[in-house]
Amino acid sequence: MTKKVLILGAAGEISRMLIARLLKESDVELVLYGRNVSRWLASLVGPRVELVDGTFSESEKLVAALSGVDLVYLNSMSRAADTKSVIAALEATGVSRLIGATIAGIEGEVPSGLATWTQANLPSSYIEGEVASANLVKDSSLDYTLLRLTWLFNDESNREYELVPSGAEFADAEVSRQGVVAAILAIMETEDTKYYRQSLGVGKPNTHYDKPSFY
Ligand SMILES: NC(=O)c1ccc[n+]([C@@H]2O[C@H](COP(=O)([O-])OP(=O)(O)OC[C@H]3O[C@@H](n4cnc5c(N)ncnc54)[C@H](OP(=O)(O)O)[C@@H]3O)[C@@H](O)[C@H]2O)c1
Repeated sequence: MTKKVLILGAAGEISRMLIARLLKESDVELVLYGRNVSRWLASLVGPRVELVDGTFSESEKLVAALSGVDLVYLNSMSRAADTKSVIAALEATGVSRLIGATIAGIEGEVPSGLATWTQANLPSSYIEGEVASANLVKDSSLDYTLLRLTWLFNDESNREYELVPSGAEFADAEVSRQGVVAAILAIMETEDTKYYRQSLGVGKPNTHYDKPSFY
């Protein structure tokens, strides 16, 4: 059973929603790591919460933050050098379980209309960083679950999501951050190894559009 979770990029939007649900709905302890979290997340300090200011490239800080942790959630994978540093810290400390948020399309799994629109609307260096990061994770020894997120929106009343395995076409054009958090919680709560070494598309069912509806 997961007892202590390290959240990397803890002040990010999905992280904040995940933290709120974990604090409310579980009894896990949290280490919240990221740039200036002591400022952004000051209100969360409490018996179950430790805040660590740091970047993904600060190896010693990462190693220290991993003490006693049994699961890591990584909320940004856009720079390969950062992802490499995170993987090295996990491998050095023997923490094997990683859930990482990346983007849809890194496996050529998105239909051409949506893929073309996505490529036109994201910097190529960002996409390249996500692809390289995901490959580093896949080449690691970690028990990873990569989440290939499609286009994100916020809607408190919508937690709908589906998980689409590697090798299958992933056509969903949008998913709410709340739906992504629901997926992360379900994956965290799964006791067996079903989601280990898996890369999953995360999307809202029946949103097979050529671009997200909100753009
Ligand atoms: N927007 C979309 O439609 C979309 C679609 C698919 C996937 N995604 C990806 O989904 C992920 C989660 O989404 P989100 O909305 O929660 O993103 P977000 O609000 O941008 O959160 C990412 C967090 O990671 C932190 N971070 C990044 N690099 C770091 C580093 N080197 N050291 C320490 N902290 C670092 C950021 O800190 P700073 O604020 O200090 O930079 C930020 O707090 C993102 O990685 C995003 O790229 C987004």
